[in-house]
This record gives sequence, structure tokens and C-alpha cells, in this order.
Amino acid sequence: MDFILNLNKYLSKSFVNKLLDSMEEKKTSSLILNTKKIDEVSFLNLFPHLRKHPFLKYVYYYNKDEYDLGKNYLLIAGVYYIMDASSLITSSLLDVNDGDLILDMCAAPGGKTISLLLYNLDKKFEVISNDISHSRALELSKNIERIGASNVIVTNNDFSLIKNKYKNAFNKIILDAPCSGSAMFRKNELAKKDWTIEKVLSLKEKQILLLNDAIYMLQDGGIIVYSTCSFSYEEDEEVLLEVLKVNPNIHLINIPFKEGFYKDKNVKEPIHLFPSLYEGEGQFIALLKKDGNDKKYDLSIKKEEKNKDLKRFNLNFNRQITLKDKIYLTNNPLDLSKLNLIRPGLEVYEVKKNYLTPSFSLAHYLNNKASIELNEKEKDLYLHGDEITKVLNLKNDFYLVSYKGINLGFIKYVNGKLKNYYPKGLRH
Ligand SMILES: C[S@@+](CC[C@H](N)C(=O)[O-])C[C@H]1O[C@@H](n2cnc3c(N)ncnc32)[C@H](O)[C@@H]1O
Repeated sequence: MDFILNLNKYLSKSFVNKLLDSMEEKKTSSLILNTKKIDEVSFLNLFPHLRKHPFLKYVYYYNKDEYDLGKNYLLIAGVYYIMDASSLITSSLLDVNDGDLILDMCAAPGGKTISLLLYNLDKKFEVISNDISHSRALELSKNIERIGASNVIVTNNDFSLIKNKYKNAFNKIILDAPCSGSAMFRKNELAKKDWTIEKVLSLKEKQILLLNDAIYMLQDGGIIVYSTCSFSYEEDEEVLLEVLKVNPNIHLINIPFKEGFYKDKNVKEPIHLFPSLYEGEGQFIALLKKDGNDKKYDLSIKKEEKNKDLKRFNLNFNRQITLKDKIYLTNNPLDLSKLNLIRPGLEVYEVKKNYLTPSFSLAHYLNNKASIELNEKEKDLYLHGDEITKVLNLKNDFYLVSYKGINLGFIKYVNGKLKNYYPKGLRH
């Protein structure tokens, strides 16, 4: 069976033709704004031709030829995250509450976690953001760091091996499953040539296993958002039908219809996004809810002792974790002993010869109230990695520097010189 025949399984011929035409068109770029760092009006002053998304808050479309936002220093500073407008719908469908404990099972490079954070900056919740690939988990960690989040722990686990430890632990789970990626073919023509029904069917088996694991780790009353970037019915509706068959305590929640959404005739609760109907790549999204009242996972933990003086930046967290030569802070109450931790919370200090150097992550997290504001020339010198001469009435110590109110990173003030601590790999 080829790719087009497979689409005909649930879509009419004329619909598939329109879909295939739309996959050849140039895609529009989109981003989500980090309103912890900049307000929408100020951002629009910088980039006036951004176009607001019809219903997603903080989301804008832009033309890549006009604004090269992938190369702007504001991206590194975590002011926005570039992400496809269909993918951006997934996390927006989770109704996040204070106290939630959320697992993003297949999270790299981080789009779903990051958009979840940015939609819910006013809420207090904790996230475990995980990926089975070590290299991708490192990338995930970097992307999350830029956003300035303190409520995310990044892990590199296969949860099927440790799920017993986390039975009923999470009240929300994002499962953006590994898939054949057919809904991204416009981006990657090679993948289209690689498409086979055998691959789709083997991914379907994997998706079913992952979804069953997610159900096992979900609290009663909890919600899973399941998504793929596949157009194949097998990886979308059929995965749900198989899982519902063996889990009578799970039901689908209806995603209210909006213009641009597509709903299957038989499985009516989820949505498909097709580039022929909606301005974005393809995506399939379903919400599942667990009934029952099984005992919840015990979230109580001992408040751990802090052994380093973190008073200077007013950092008040329940747990302090040292991993290799770095110090992290978190409020996550989970037992972390079974997790391969990549980033156990907000990275605050690196310990070098018993000496504490504030981390780049901390610069992203802190507000700019105590920052030294640089002028444009100094900003360019800083991003280039140069030392800046600036005599200030300060004692020799580490300080934040910002440009137009956005933190760029740390410097060490030493007798009228701003020693540069912008990460070497980012200097340009
Ligand atoms: C579709 S991508 C995730 C995209 C991501 N959610 C985002 O929005 O940026 C699927 C991810 O699943 C990961 N993966 C595959 N099998 C996995 C497993 N068993 N457990 C955890 N992650 C897995 C892959 O490494 C890949 O990064």
C-alpha cells in the first residue's frame, strides 16, 4: 500500500488531492511569545508585521523572509520559541491547575513542554520532561533553560522500565508519540520516500505500548493528551481504539470543534489538523481521561537541607540537588531516585574549585530588576564574548547584564571591567 492509498482509508479522493496540493505550498512560520520576558505590545513594536493567531494566546505567524527570527539574539534570550502552529495547539488543550504534576513522556526538542509552560506562566505546577534519546534530551534541556523555567526536570528514561515506581503519579501526561511523521512531509521529502505501511504498523504497536504506560502512570481523574504528526489512521484513531478496548476506565474527551479542525466520522472526539484546512503542518490530537478513585501516589517529601548559600538571588525552593559539578533547585515532590537526571530543576550554580559561578540558566530565570543595562554597542561586545570597560560603583562580584530590559547573561565585575560569562558556544 502506498502513502496516498493509505490516506484514502479515511479521507475522500478529493480531500486527499487538496491535502497533497497544500503540502507543496510554502509553509508559514510561527512562534509563541514568552510574556515573562516581554509584553505583546513591546514585541509587536520590534516586529510590527507579526500576525496574531486566531485563537491561541501569545502565538504569532511571521514571514521568515522578512524576519529571520531563528538567528535573533532574542531567541537565545528565551523571548520566544519558534514552533509550528498545529503543534502549538496540543498543549493549549490541557487545562493546567496549581499543584499539577505533569509528565511529558517523549518531549525532545521541547515544543510541547515549552508551550505548556508559556500558556500557563501564572500557575504553579511541576513537569518531568523526558526523552529516551540522550542527545535529544540534552537539546531539550537547553531549550527549556532559555525559557527561564524553574518547574521542569529533564530526564533521559525509558519509562516502560520504571513505570512501577510512578503508578498513578501524574495527573496530566503529554504523549507526543514517535511516529511516521507523514504530516511533516512538506518539510522532509526524504521521509515520504521512506514511507511504508510496515513501518506505520510497527510504530502503531510502539504507540499502543507507550499509551498503556501513560495510562498506568496517570492518576484517577487525570488527563492524557496524545498526539502524532502522522496522517495515518493506524497511528491515530486506531491506536486509541485498541487502547480503549483494554482499558475500560479510559474514555475520550471531546475537543470542541473550531474552524480549521477536521473530525473523523467514526471517532469524533479527537481532531486532525491538515495544512489544507488550517495554517500549519499536520497533527492529530486526542484527549483521554481516566475514571476511578484509586489511591494517589504519595507526593509528600522531606524538605531537603540546603548546603550552599543561595540568599543573594532570593532563591527559595524545597529541594537542592547537586549533580556532577552543578547545583539545581526544584519544588518537584517526586521520588527522583529511578530517573536519569539531565537537569534536575533550575540550574543555579557551577562549582569550580569550591567557588560558585552563577549559571546561564539563572540569568534566564531571574527578572531584570538588578541587571546592569548595556547600551547597543556594549550588547554587541557582550554577545561577541568581549570584555567591557565600565566603571560602576559596585563591589567585585557577579552581576546580570541586560539590553532593553532583557537579561543576556552574567558578567563578573572586577575593578571597572565586566568579565564576560556569555557561554562560549553562543558567542558571535
Ligand atoms: C515527535 S518527537 C517529540 C517532539 C516533542 N514532543 C516536541 O514537541 O518538541 C518524538 C520523540 O520521542 C522520543 N522517543 C521515542 N521512543 C521513546 C520512548 N520509548 N520513551 C521516550 N521517548 C521516546 C524520540 O526520541 C523523539 O524525540
